[in-house]
Amino acid sequence: MFKINQNYLKLPGSYLFSDIGRKVNAYAAAHPDKRIIRLGIGDVTQPLAPAIISALHGAVEEMGDAATFRGYAPDLGYGFLRDAIAENDYKARGCDIRPEEIFISDGAKCDSGNIQEIFSLDNRIAVCDPVYPVYVDTNVMAGRAGCYDSRTETWSDVIYMPCMAENGFAPDLPKETPDIIYLCFPNNPTGAAITRGQLQEWVDYANRVGSVIIYDAAYEAYISEEDVPHSIYECQGARTCAIELRSFSKNAGFTGVRLGFTVIPRELKAGDVSLHSLWARRHGTKYNGAPYIVQRAGEAVYSREGRDQLKEQVAYYMRNAAYISQGLKEAGYTVSGGVNAPYIWLKAPGGMSSWDFFDYLLEKANVVGTPGVGFGPSGEGYFRLTAFGSYENTVEAVERIKAL
Ligand code: MLT
Repeated sequence: MFKINQNYLKLPGSYLFSDIGRKVNAYAAAHPDKRIIRLGIGDVTQPLAPAIISALHGAVEEMGDAATFRGYAPDLGYGFLRDAIAENDYKARGCDIRPEEIFISDGAKCDSGNIQEIFSLDNRIAVCDPVYPVYVDTNVMAGRAGCYDSRTETWSDVIYMPCMAENGFAPDLPKETPDIIYLCFPNNPTGAAITRGQLQEWVDYANRVGSVIIYDAAYEAYISEEDVPHSIYECQGARTCAIELRSFSKNAGFTGVRLGFTVIPRELKAGDVSLHSLWARRHGTKYNGAPYIVQRAGEAVYSREGRDQLKEQVAYYMRNAAYISQGLKEAGYTVSGGVNAPYIWLKAPGGMSSWDFFDYLLEKANVVGTPGVGFGPSGEGYFRLTAFGSYENTVEAVERIKAL
């Protein structure tokens, strides 16, 4: 008789955004006359930029011609894309990252979930609280999180690093020493950013205690302030302690196209073993690479036209962020985020719980957001709105909330 992976049974409920989707669909079915505005999941709404569409068309034509047709992509990604990334995302910022240290994938969600596979099960992970749920859930599935306590909504073997208003939503160094530290900045869900100096402290700490940092920089394109780092490799010593995850979803609208990458410097080692070689082995065995067409679209993100068009797209979403932030402040809400990230983090009014506020907004304003507690216990009483809607919907959602 086959047996299942029992770790899956430990997971409480379903994936946060699936739970929300079900709730919203049920409400929509019961109230077909209501126009619901969805500012919940961080999914983009603007069409792909013309430079990207043109690259996609060009690559499709190539696939239809025997002379330029491509089959399996190279395991670790096409050279043209890895070169463009190394040049534009790293060299241009003074970071020493070479094309061969970049692994192309179909997105940061998969990479952030899969990367834990190359680490031993007895490693202890540390996560920000609140946190993007994928980091914790995938460690639960692997059997690295221990037991769930439904009262505290925490896992026995996970080190939680609270990110609260008191610490500017930036974690303090943990009291217990973790082996693997997940950091995401600019942050999902709080929209908070940390300075280069603060990140340098984490790099120094990781090198001192022998931890690895898994740094999720999916939202770096939204950084507007000078002293906020775009990459962990802007910090001295990061090559010996940090893996960086990047996505094309938020900076180029690829949520439906799928493209991302992971950087593992050669110097990052456990004893004599380089993590780069382990991830290359895993990638080669389990992954057939992002499609050629999509990698050509990714290359276009770095072209002059692509860069200009995407700057405008990011500015469009950040105008939404500013509108939400300003409007909610005027309505008396306590609001943060939205300056270096497309997420606005607000306190539910009148001491309401996150889920009560979710229901209240859905029913009274027909606006969908994400309950902060869904990201971890320290998110209780908070709520996340995304700036990824259309401008018109964003304005209407804010007006509806203000009118409550
Ligand atoms: C979110 O809403 O937190 C993100 O869209 C999820 C993701 O990028 O996977």
